[in-house]
Amino acid sequence: MSEGDSNPPQPAVPEAHEVDTYHVPKAFFSKGTGKAHLKDLDHYHELYKHSIDDPHAFWAKLARELLTFERDFQTVHSGSLTNGDNAWFVEGRLNASYNCVDRHAFKNPNKAAIIYEADEPSEGRTITYGELLREVCRVAYVLQQMGVKKGDTVAIYLPMIPEAIIAFLAITRIGAIHSVVFAGFSSDSLKDRVIDARSKVVITADEGKRGGKLIGTKKIVDEALKKCPDVKHCLVYRRTGTEVPWTEGRDFWWHEEVEKWPNYIAPESMSSEDPLFLLYTSGSTGKPKGVMHTTAGYLVGAAATGKYVFDIHDDDVFFCGGDVGWITGHTYVVYAPLLLGVASVVFEGTPAYPNFSRYWEVIDKHNVSQFYVAPTALRLLKRAGDEHIKSEMNNLRVLGSVGEPIAAEVWKWYHEKVGKEEAHIVDTYWQTETGSHVITPLAGITSTKPGSASLPFFGIEPAIIDPVSGEELKGNDVEGVLAFKQPWPSMARTVWGAHKRYMDTYLNVYKGFYFTGDGAGRDHEGYYWIRGRVDDGVNVSGHRLSTAEIEAALIESPLVAEAAVVGVHDDLTGQAVNAFVALKDPSQDNDQTKKDLILQVRKSIGPFAAPKAVFVIPDLPKTRSGKIMRRILRKILSGEEESLGDTSTLSDPAVVDKIIERVHAVR
Ligand code: WTA
Repeated sequence: MSEGDSNPPQPAVPEAHEVDTYHVPKAFFSKGTGKAHLKDLDHYHELYKHSIDDPHAFWAKLARELLTFERDFQTVHSGSLTNGDNAWFVEGRLNASYNCVDRHAFKNPNKAAIIYEADEPSEGRTITYGELLREVCRVAYVLQQMGVKKGDTVAIYLPMIPEAIIAFLAITRIGAIHSVVFAGFSSDSLKDRVIDARSKVVITADEGKRGGKLIGTKKIVDEALKKCPDVKHCLVYRRTGTEVPWTEGRDFWWHEEVEKWPNYIAPESMSSEDPLFLLYTSGSTGKPKGVMHTTAGYLVGAAATGKYVFDIHDDDVFFCGGDVGWITGHTYVVYAPLLLGVASVVFEGTPAYPNFSRYWEVIDKHNVSQFYVAPTALRLLKRAGDEHIKSEMNNLRVLGSVGEPIAAEVWKWYHEKVGKEEAHIVDTYWQTETGSHVITPLAGITSTKPGSASLPFFGIEPAIIDPVSGEELKGNDVEGVLAFKQPWPSMARTVWGAHKRYMDTYLNVYKGFYFTGDGAGRDHEGYYWIRGRVDDGVNVSGHRLSTAEIEAALIESPLVAEAAVVGVHDDLTGQAVNAFVALKDPSQDNDQTKKDLILQVRKSIGPFAAPKAVFVIPDLPKTRSGKIMRRILRKILSGEEESLGDTSTLSDPAVVDKIIERVHAVR
């Protein structure tokens, strides 16, 4: 990795005396069934060792326990990280929707599957497993009638409503591949993803409703579809009933279509390795990657982590605050809870609407036992004040954190104020590409340290690698980049239509390893501390963005000659996007231009990617070979002008002072 591209050095592993260790709260065992799935930490160590020494035996047993295969597998795993041809449960056949719905509906049709908590607190409803099966079948039929076949991709662009989950499962029922696009993405981003995935059908809603505000979902889809000639059909769920533009022959109302078809359709028989879904994530170049997951391996990962990390038992009510547009929602709103046959809370709103008590009220109202959210929401709620936490939350025994590092003081607040020292906090580290948790405490089992994701999940063998030498750093008290030494069932199999990119991004960086792209330390007790991305990623409010993608959006503006985007620390959002631009015509340097550029990013990616600040500068700091040195920009923004390091390799070292001047003038 070149100097121009690397993130700033991260803090060293904390000294032992600086860190508190928390044990599982005693009250954890007075809730739920009173027992975790495992006995104790020794039990974890024993199973973990087994999962590393004999992964085939370990995963074969778990897969048969957690999933229902229509045909059993003989080969547990084939392929390797070196060759990028991993396959799991090879001869097995199964269907995802059958595993998530049918088997529970047959046994327990009246059990709650989805608890829909609508944006307005009074508007939600509960869907049982029996109802869910009928709904899934009806939509599956509609899709089939629209010509969707096994192996086709179907795009979902829906808000957080039960129909999003129904759509996921209807698609998998007929053997198609879902490609969910977060409904906060712009029409341009949606268009790119629909085209890349070659989706011929898009499922959407007339409008979305979030935090009391309406979002013109169908309008955004219409805009995108102008440039997607291959999309033949658009299925529209009526969420608010507003008038929406309509393209005859292409657009169909969900409620009208489902009335036409039977309430049961047989699930398509799928091979374990048939693709289950694509999910686009930012890469280090401008173009997002369609990360592909396959059926059995992904489902085993989702169910196994649901069971052991969140300690899900039959009567639990699971509430993941993540959106189905991101991997957290895929795995922990949809697949993990439904595979395990428990109720999943689908929350349409925001933590601040109608007031800052919303999450806590939802937890009380539905007797939630596990709650899972990103630290960015916790920072917001902590700042809003503890007086908003009036709920008892008596059933709460697991509190999860995901998506970004959680600062120790936020962790402690979560523990004391939300969990009332009675719930076990699990800081779960994973990625879109890992499919499910990879480094994480197990609820009820693992002692935790605020800010550390703790220990590897079963089957994950972490390696800390020295980024300079490429050598693995053995033993404890080491710091480097994080990689995994063994394949695991829920790892992504490819980047859609770009397998070479998959190999180059994950498997060819350190031969024989899966490279996470994150820096990490392993402390004196073998606990892992995630430091954040070492590539050009920015993590804003738990959303993973690529600086290259935002730069590409800025350069689309006719005003911009060059752009560089960096992430800087932000108290609320974790990191914030700051953009530096050099204009083609310097006389255009005014507030309107800056506003236009922010708008440009909102339009081309989505509001969540908009820069918090735009600095117009005469030129970017570049090496003689033209590489932008973002490190210098980051240091200037964080006030570390004294320690810019060697700037003599810049083609024009004098530019640094001019940038410093500009940043100071604006602040
Ligand atoms: C970061 C989200 C620290 C990390 C599930 C990773 C975390 C990226 C944690 C993946 C955590 C995720 N502590 N950092 N507990 N969990 N990350 O694909 O940088 O949206 O590589 O998946 O988020 O983001 P993604």
